Amino acid sequence: MTQLLWQKPGVQVDERIQHFCAGADVILDREFLLFDIQASRAHAQGLQMIGILDATELDAIERELATLADDFASGRFVLDETYEDGHSAIEARLIDRLGDAGRKIHTGRSRNDQVLVATRLWLKDRLARLRELCLETTGIALTRADVESGLPLPGYTHLQRAVVSSAGMWWSAWAEAFIDNAARADDTLAWVDANPLGSAAGYGVNLPLAREHTTQALGFGRMQVSATYAQLSRGKFEMAAIEALSSGMLDLRRLAWDLSLFTSAEFGFVTLPAQYTTGSSIMPNKRNPDVIELMRASYASVAAARSEIEQLLSLPSGYHRDLQFSKGAIFHAFGRGLGALELLPDLLRNLEWKPEAMRAALEPSMYATDLAVDLARAGTPFRDAYRQAADPARWEAGDADASLAARVSPGAAGDLRLDLLRERLHALGGQAEGAPQT
Ligand code: ARG
Repeated sequence: MTQLLWQKPGVQVDERIQHFCAGADVILDREFLLFDIQASRAHAQGLQMIGILDATELDAIERELATLADDFASGRFVLDETYEDGHSAIEARLIDRLGDAGRKIHTGRSRNDQVLVATRLWLKDRLARLRELCLETTGIALTRADVESGLPLPGYTHLQRAVVSSAGMWWSAWAEAFIDNAARADDTLAWVDANPLGSAAGYGVNLPLAREHTTQALGFGRMQVSATYAQLSRGKFEMAAIEALSSGMLDLRRLAWDLSLFTSAEFGFVTLPAQYTTGSSIMPNKRNPDVIELMRASYASVAAARSEIEQLLSLPSGYHRDLQFSKGAIFHAFGRGLGALELLPDLLRNLEWKPEAMRAALEPSMYATDLAVDLARAGTPFRDAYRQAADPARWEAGDADASLAARVSPGAAGDLRLDLLRERLHALGGQAEGAPQT
């Protein structure tokens, strides 16, 4: 272990205690290191603006930070337990290579705002990816909703056959869900887009730090003004990001559930792309939908991470080391969550319907609601029409295509209003797959 930044003379460092406090944490800091380097650069620029560093020192620091980023990316620099954390690793490197200029980098900052700013940049990056994946998912779902709008699919409530539905309705549901999920990622991104750098340990410092500069240099939408609130927002912003993620994951869980039912022999409506299934070690006949099951299960990790952070936040104001454990939680949540969402577009693009099985599962009772509404439209009070249509003697094998075509309530099979969904998708910067590039 390199010399600890805060080591006091005469106090022996106990390796076990050190490992407990920092062992796993420094490894987690690998996720943050490039963002920490980026923020260190902005901080150094700010220090030069207020006369703490001269132009030559700033230049040397900027160059050395760039080299460190390259070395880290190429594996020449390894962040491990030699260091207490990523923050001190950066400082140690600058001191080692640059001497006094390096010894100045930590002026006016604390590891408390350093970890905050790195986390914030990381969250922004992950939320942007979340948004992108949601838009891509929507793009495919919208296109397939259009193409397969007339393909009949049983509609269920309580898992009981209910009414005739369509692949178009199924797809448009996910299209709109993932528009909402993208919008939520966007809103959350804007919410967390606040620069905590320059809040130091949570109480500011006796220097006119160039916080407007670092805010702009790091691409933040605003400065997080109160130095003390910056600390209070640790964990709170992480939870908001996880909530945005869980919105998509909740829909993914239900979509995966549909597919696991639809691919079973009992339903038999869908064939998954071959790569999305695996074999059994003992049963030569099996093709198992493991991928969609793990997609479904990924929600659990996201929900658990949110709950872990919520439990950590039972704290008075100010920094507490407890907050360190919020890091593992966000990495786990976004690792699992985005890992699952990354595989979704291709799955949706390539899954195949089995139209005969879908039609075969439509039974006469599923037209009873159409009949009741038809009678009501002809003037029978709906409650009476309902009673008449409940009589099995009146059920006949209906015409699925006509039933779908007649379902003209906006948002139903006969009038999917995909144009409205397309508009929202475009407003968010996405587009339906296969649509011409504009
Ligand atoms: N690893 C620490 C964390 O994530 C960095 C901040 C350390 N600050 C401190 N005062 N010990 O919270």
